[in-house]
Amino acid sequence: MGKPTVLVTRRIPQDGLDLLASHFEVDLNADDHPYSPEELRQRAAGKDAIMTLLTDKVDAALLGAAPSLKIVANVAVGYDNIDLEAARRHNVHVSNTPGVLTDATADLAFTLLLAAARRICEGDRYIRAGEWKGWQIMGFHGGDIAGRTLGIAGFGRIGQAVARRATGFGMHIIYTDAQRAATNAEDAVGARFVDKETLLAQSDYLSLHVPYLPSTHHYIGAPELAAMKKTAYLVNTSRGAVVDEAALASALREGQIRGAGLDVFEREPQVVPELLGLDNVTMTPHIASATDETRAKMSLMAAENVIAVLSGNPPLNPVT
Ligand code: DGY
Repeated sequence: MGKPTVLVTRRIPQDGLDLLASHFEVDLNADDHPYSPEELRQRAAGKDAIMTLLTDKVDAALLGAAPSLKIVANVAVGYDNIDLEAARRHNVHVSNTPGVLTDATADLAFTLLLAAARRICEGDRYIRAGEWKGWQIMGFHGGDIAGRTLGIAGFGRIGQAVARRATGFGMHIIYTDAQRAATNAEDAVGARFVDKETLLAQSDYLSLHVPYLPSTHHYIGAPELAAMKKTAYLVNTSRGAVVDEAALASALREGQIRGAGLDVFEREPQVVPELLGLDNVTMTPHIASATDETRAKMSLMAAENVIAVLSGNPPLNPVT
């Protein structure tokens, strides 16, 4: 009997590929373009495992076309690209990559917070455009950080890591979540548990760390933006559709909130055109986990999940 075969849907860091290749036949999409649903179905047929990215939609049609599949190992902590119910029906394990990207993602969230508050990208564009004619006392005022309140929606690993960074900057922390966190997690950063309404009303900066679920679709929409302070900033490094992007664009244009930092978008790689024309939004192209070490660890973790399942064990990082 030949080795089991694993489909890797896009080029990933070599660490994970080498580990997979030492155990299995690897079918790698070396082109690094996302497969169309049809291509993905064709390539997945006959495979024992697939390593997917968040750009791959894993649905009932795909799972039905790949009856020998035993695991879908997502190289991401988020898994909203995977139909978990269909995977369960097809007896296919699903795994993700929690933990290894916590610090990189929290770093980027805090970077966006600072960049939005201090108008970093706007200043950079201004200099490059040759518009800077000299120092002005009234130019480029931004928002203070020290002494301000950071609201965190979703106080899991990443939310707590953002809170740790914020304490170093002298911020006060409030958070909301489906459940109140353990006392030691709150005490570590002096965080206060509040309801969503209070979070919106009291945050000077609001950072989103909720997973994307039907219940978090447009978690921040027009009514929530209207409930925020006019001086507040919104930061999103979770999933784009957690925010109603069109409503956000109009809130930013109308001065309903002061600014935003976004790493994720509702219809990536498209961004609503109104946002592109606004100076009070700082944007990055979904790069929160994009550091050499983090992406290498993600690829290794996904490969380890494949190895576990194809050796007859449960996945190390199961998603249920
Ligand atoms: C994730 O892992 O879910 C991020 O969005 C990409 O690293």
